[in-house]
Amino acid sequence: MDWGMANRMARIINPNTGRTVMLALDHGYFLGPTHRIEEPRKTIEPLLPYADTIMLTRGVLRTSVDPKSATNVVLRVSGGVSVIGPALSDEGLTTSIKDAIRLNVAGIGISVFIGTEHERQTLLNLAELVNIGEEYGIPVLGITAVGKELEKRDARFLSLCCRICAELGTHIVKTYYCEDFEKVTTGCPAPIVIAGGPKLETEMDVLDMTYSALQHGAVGVDMGRNIWQNDHPVAMIRAIRSIVHEGLKPKQAHEFFKEIKEEQNKKVASG
Ligand code: 5RP
Repeated sequence: MDWGMANRMARIINPNTGRTVMLALDHGYFLGPTHRIEEPRKTIEPLLPYADTIMLTRGVLRTSVDPKSATNVVLRVSGGVSVIGPALSDEGLTTSIKDAIRLNVAGIGISVFIGTEHERQTLLNLAELVNIGEEYGIPVLGITAVGKELEKRDARFLSLCCRICAELGTHIVKTYYCEDFEKVTTGCPAPIVIAGGPKLETEMDVLDMTYSALQHGAVGVDMGRNIWQNDHPVAMIRAIRSIVHEGLKPKQAHEFFKEIKEEQNKKVASG
């Protein structure tokens, strides 16, 4: 692997632990002002110190993240559709490699919609992005999107999607956690991170999912709503971090979550 590519991969996946906490903030690219990220800067700023990498679009990066921050960025470069349009899967490339380099990104991210009418188009978009990424030493995050069809998220479907992304040269694959998750990770030679999906009922559900994904071969998370839609997003990202980088068990991480939440409540009460 060339130095630039290896260096950028190390900015995404921490070489000391081999793991990563990526913070996904790209939802507005097709959902508009999503609940609790209506004002991106307010959501992002308190979480920045605890994310190894943030994943977002160039518009939110330029307007809502301080360029002096030491944050690593994985830039979403696919889109062109909306949740009220005819087909979420009909994505194209939205951002040039020149602009990604100008933004000093650690990586570039793109969704593929396998099993849809736009499978070929989105897979060829991914393949082309890998060609460009290899040329400039920029890793590509391939995202196995399911659009509104959340029920698709099973091991059979996701292992097919992840393997295809890896075969096309994707450097990191982002997918969903599911039952029999080791089938997904063993069949995919590229490192896998999990999305969180829609907000789960309890914090323990999120911590259990994170722990189990790592136990079954994921290298980390690229999580959004289950962090910043929580009433205590800083406590949540720190608890997830404690599992990913320090190997805490879900119950220990939950205790840690409660401690941070208490600390923050006290700070608010004391003005
Ligand atoms: C959408 C995405 C999101 O970034 C991804 O789903 C992660 O966010 P969440 O944890 O909220 O699911 O890639 O296609």
